[in-house]
Amino acid sequence: MNRIDIVINYLNKYIYEDNREMRSIYLMHIFGVAQFASLIALKRGLDSEIAIISALLHDIHTLQTLDPEKHAKKGALLARSILNEMNITDDKETDIICTAIHNHSSKAKVHGEYDELLKDADVLQHCLYNTKIPPSMKDEERFRKLLAEFNLKDPHK
Ligand SMILES: [Fe+2]
Ligand SMILES: [Fe+2]
Repeated sequence: MNRIDIVINYLNKYIYEDNREMRSIYLMHIFGVAQFASLIALKRGLDSEIAIISALLHDIHTLQTLDPEKHAKKGALLARSILNEMNITDDKETDIICTAIHNHSSKAKVHGEYDELLKDADVLQHCLYNTKIPPSMKDEERFRKLLAEFNLKDPHK
């Protein structure tokens, strides 16, 4: 099985746990972020497989515990142990993925290229899953820059 499907299979087991409704909302978000991560990687000349795996695991702590408190930092630790167990990434890839997850909630700061890719993919999913809902204040600035990068009109206007 390829690396992305290994991670997706791992995530899918959460469908069968309690609080299915909440978990399915998180899973929908996660899979949406993964698709946007793939698109942004293509646009920026980055590795889409690493971007997709970062996205698939970025909210793993919330998916697992349903508690979003400090989920980026906790999720980075969790993702590292999951990736070590799966043995599908080398040390450098694991570091890139876990650093991106660790930093993904700090939307106002600028970090490395894979960290920024993940933050932007997160924002695109928040802002585009339902274009009737305007972007939140925390996402607005990044979303505006992404529309410019992809040469798109604001669908909320
Ligand atoms: Fe998150
Ligand atoms: Fe997210």
